[in-house]
Amino acid sequence: MAKKPLSLVGVYVVMVLLSCVNNSLCKEDKKIQTYKLSRGSFSVTFTNYGAVMTSLLLPDRHGKQDDVVLGFDSVDGYKNDTTYFGALVGRVANRIGGAQFKLNGQLYKTDPNDGHNTLHGGSKGFGDVIWSIHNYVPTSHVTFKYNSFDGEEGFPGNVTVKVTYMLIGENKLGVKMEAKPLNKPTPINLALHTYWNLHSHNSGDILSHKIQLLAGKITPVDDKLIPTGEITSVTGTPYDFLEPREIGSRIHELPGGYDINYVIDGTVGKHLRKTAVVSEAVTGRKMELWTNQPGVQFYTSNLLTRVVGKGGAVYKKYAGLCLETQGFPDSVNHKNFPSQIVNPGETYLHVMLFRFTAY
Ligand SMILES: *[C@@H]1O[C@H](CO)[C@@H](O)[C@H](O)[C@H]1NC(C)=O
Ligand SMILES: *[C@@H]1O[C@H](CO)[C@@H](O)[C@H](O)[C@H]1NC(C)=O
Repeated sequence: MAKKPLSLVGVYVVMVLLSCVNNSLCKEDKKIQTYKLSRGSFSVTFTNYGAVMTSLLLPDRHGKQDDVVLGFDSVDGYKNDTTYFGALVGRVANRIGGAQFKLNGQLYKTDPNDGHNTLHGGSKGFGDVIWSIHNYVPTSHVTFKYNSFDGEEGFPGNVTVKVTYMLIGENKLGVKMEAKPLNKPTPINLALHTYWNLHSHNSGDILSHKIQLLAGKITPVDDKLIPTGEITSVTGTPYDFLEPREIGSRIHELPGGYDINYVIDGTVGKHLRKTAVVSEAVTGRKMELWTNQPGVQFYTSNLLTRVVGKGGAVYKKYAGLCLETQGFPDSVNHKNFPSQIVNPGETYLHVMLFRFTAY
C-alpha cells in the first residue's frame, strides 16, 4: 500500500519531464523570445534569433547606466538587418574568397552573399537562424543551441553548435562557443559581432574611444577585403595600437576605417590571452577582452549608413566598434593561416571574456 502514492509521484515526475520537451525553458522550442541575465547594475539581454546579444547595460563612473551595444528594439529589426548587430555568426565568420574552398580533394561552393565572396556564413548564416533555448538561469547564464545540417549554405556535414553567455562575478561576461561536426570534417569559425559604444549606443561615434590591441601583426587584405596571405607588422602604420591610442587619431590615413584581422600576440594554447582594452573618457567605462582565439577582427562600422535602431537612434559610420575574436579570415584558402578544419570526434571551442570597469 505504501508504494502506491510513491509510484504516482513517479508518473507525475515523468509527465513533467516529458512536457518539458515542449517547454521553452527546456529544448528545441523555435519560439523567438528574449532572455535577460542580470547582477547588480550589470544586465545583458539576448534573443534566440541569431543568438544575438541585444543590449548590455553598464554603470558609468557615477553609477549611471547606459546601453553600450548597438541594436534594434524588436526582433523584426534583427531579421531585416544587414549589419550583423550583436549576432553569433558562422558556420565560418568573416570572408571566404571566391565563395569556395577545397577540403580533402573535394571542392565546396558556399553562398556568395558579398560580391563573389561569402561573408559570415552566407545569406542565412547562424546569425539569421532561430536557435533553441537549452538552459536559462537569469542570475547566471543562458545557452542557445543550433543543429546545422549537411550542405547548409554549402558547408559539409552536420554540426551541433552551442553558445553560452554567462555572468561571472559582478562585472564580467563570458561567452563560450562550442561546435561538434557529426559526420564530416568541416571548417568552423564562430564570432560574436557586437558593435560597442562605451559612451552609449546612441552617443555618436567611437573616434574618441581609446583602444589598445595586444597584437603586433595583421593579415592585410585586397580591395574586396580578402587576405593576401601575408602577415605583416603594424610598426609605423595606423594599425599600431600596441600602446593605447584614440581610434580616430590616424583613421583618416585609411581608405574607409579599420576592418582588419589582428594576429594576437603570444602563443595560442589553453590559456586566454589579453587581446584588447577599450576606454571612454566621458563615462570612464573600460572594457577588457580576453580570448583563446588566434585573431581578432577590428571593425569601426565603416559601412554603417543611417540604420535606425533602438529608440529611434540613427547609427552612422563609426557609430560602434567591433572586436570579433576568431580564426583568420579565409583560412580555408591559406595554408599558412591556422587551420579551421574540425573533424568528427573533435570539438571546436571559442572563449571570450569581457571585464568591465569604470575609472
Ligand atoms: C526592413 O528593411 C526595409 C528596407 O531596408 C525597410 O523599408 C523596412 O522598414 C524594414 N523593416 C523593419 C521592421 O525594420
Ligand atoms: C544530419 O542532419 C539531417 C538533417 O537534420 C538528418 O536527417 C541526419 O540524420 C543527420 N545525420 C547525422 C549523421 O547526424
